[in-house]
Amino acid sequence: MNAQNHSASGGEYRFLPQDFQVGDPDVDFQHEMLFFLMDGILNYIRSEGEAGSIDMVFGIFEDYIRDHFKCEEDRMERAHYPELEVHRGEHQAFQNRVLELERAYAGAEDEQRKVAVAVQVLEFLKGWLSGHIAVMDRKMIGFLNQ
Ligand SMILES: [Fe+2]
Repeated sequence: MNAQNHSASGGEYRFLPQDFQVGDPDVDFQHEMLFFLMDGILNYIRSEGEAGSIDMVFGIFEDYIRDHFKCEEDRMERAHYPELEVHRGEHQAFQNRVLELERAYAGAEDEQRKVAVAVQVLEFLKGWLSGHIAVMDRKMIGFLNQ
C-alpha cells in the first residue's frame, strides 16, 4: 500500500458507538477517551510503525486507567454494589494485561514486532469494549441508576 494512502489518523475510533454507551455521561466520556486512544493505535498499525510510536498511549493509559477505574469503583462502593469484587477483579486483570503488553512492546526488537504487539493491544481493547464495557459496566450503571 502506498504510504500516501494512509490518513493522518485512523478515524475509526473517534466517537463511542451507542452499542458501547452505558448511559452515564461521565463514564461514557471516560470510555470515549479509551476509544480515542484506540484510534492512535490503529494509525500506528496502519502506518506499519512509521507514525511515531505508541509509547504515549501506554503513558496515558496508566493514569487514565487508574483514575477511570477508581471512579467506577468508588461509585460502586458508595452504592454497595453486590458485584463490586467481581468487577474490581476484571479491572485488575485489565491493568495486568496492559502492563504485560507494555513490557512486550518495550522489549520488541524491531518495528515489525512492535506493530505486532500494537495489534494485540488493539484486539485486547476491542474485547474489553464488548466483554467488559458493554456488559459489566452497563450492568453496574443499571444498578446505580435504579
Ligand atoms: Fe468497569
